[in-house]
Amino acid sequence: MNVDAAVKSNIVDTYRSRTQRSAARHQEALNLLPSGIVHDSRRIWPYGVYGERALGSRKWDIDGNEYIDYYGGHGSLLLGHQHPQVVAAAQAQLNKGMHFAAAHELEVEWATLVREMVPCAERVRFTSSGTEATHLAIRLARAASGKPKIIRFIGNFHGWHDHVAFGNKDNADGKPLPGITPEVTAGVVLVRVNDLAEVERQLSTRNDIGAVMIEPLGTSSGAVPTSPVVLRELREITRRHGAFLIFDEVVSGFRAAPGGLQAAIGVTPDLAALAKVLAGGMPGGAVVGRKDILDWLDFDVSAAAKRERISHQGTHNAHPVCAAAGIATLKLIRDTDVCERATARANELRRGMNQVLEDEGIPWAVYGDYSFFHFFTNPENRAIKPTAFDAHQTPGEWFKPDKRERMQAKLVLSLMNHGVDPKGARGGIVSAAHTAQDVARTLEAWRRALRALRDEGDLN
Ligand SMILES: Cc1ncc(COP(=O)(O)O)c(C=O)c1O
Repeated sequence: MNVDAAVKSNIVDTYRSRTQRSAARHQEALNLLPSGIVHDSRRIWPYGVYGERALGSRKWDIDGNEYIDYYGGHGSLLLGHQHPQVVAAAQAQLNKGMHFAAAHELEVEWATLVREMVPCAERVRFTSSGTEATHLAIRLARAASGKPKIIRFIGNFHGWHDHVAFGNKDNADGKPLPGITPEVTAGVVLVRVNDLAEVERQLSTRNDIGAVMIEPLGTSSGAVPTSPVVLRELREITRRHGAFLIFDEVVSGFRAAPGGLQAAIGVTPDLAALAKVLAGGMPGGAVVGRKDILDWLDFDVSAAAKRERISHQGTHNAHPVCAAAGIATLKLIRDTDVCERATARANELRRGMNQVLEDEGIPWAVYGDYSFFHFFTNPENRAIKPTAFDAHQTPGEWFKPDKRERMQAKLVLSLMNHGVDPKGARGGIVSAAHTAQDVARTLEAWRRALRALRDEGDLN
């Protein structure tokens, strides 16, 4: 992040004075952890706060500051922090044992729920993260199709393994990142988001592509949205050309609807990657999909078919404590209206934030589908009306990343100074635990944070 450390700013001074213990911890961490962090997206200038505890929609840092939390465990906490049923289930399992190095009943119960809820899930293989799930999904698709390449969309995020760690935020041109071999990147054909003509052209002019993988909400949880119409057409195109369709539902799964986005829009992929909400805030992921594809993991089916099997291990796959939290979470999602509640609350928030922008005369917009909200900070100063902004009708090139790093850093700090922790400068994620009072407080914080930015000349 290129922010001039010497810049004079009340926003930065206020943040520093409220977060002195976090600053000290960060200094310590700099000598231990690269950049002092453990996940790239937690990089905040000048440093991020250190969390101490959390409950419902709120969290507190080690300096005692309270925040309305819109990062929600990177999207894993649809029910909010410390939901009593989820905590009780995890604790009960902790008391019985953490790891049996054996099958356990919870993995069967968890998979049963997943299959019942997610339309494409004829079979389930648990992994330990979303990255592992997309990795395994790609391997399965290549094996079952007998074709070495996949299509991915530029900007879509699928984790950090070699086949997906380029062509998104980093190296959109497909150039390998350091440490990734050109042989691996050659296995991926990158296509612009929503460019179905190009997908069709690729699939009809070559026969080495086995699958198309997509973040079905659109890039970064819908920051560059993909519409259900596009997904329906993509389903048709992939079917027509005999390529598998893989939905990366790591963020949309169990959130857009109990059965994920595929259930919400009625488009069933061949495979889906799941994680986050799946394990109720604990680590966990899964690949789900057609039996004939997941059968490539099955010893007996593979032996009967006289083919080499895909081997797959993972010490913590379906870890019992994660399974317990996941089961409690999925039951609440299946049996109550939590997905709808989170979406309704996000609607209120998006509407209110746009009204604030309009009142303040700021040509930005807040948009998003389901329980996500994204900031359109309008780097090219286009003429827009915040309350009438429709991201699905907006040309894709409008969503180019905003390069104003100082403004973005200060936007985050300014919101935090006013008690709101967003998901970086890009927006946030709403949970079913967020209340009308949270929305009212957030709107006030939004107004004050924007005014502080304007006072320092950052909105020009
Ligand atoms: C769409 C999507 N796919 C995959 C991943 C990777 O999941 P994990 O962080 O569990 O490895 C993420 C994480 O944010 C994601 O948003």
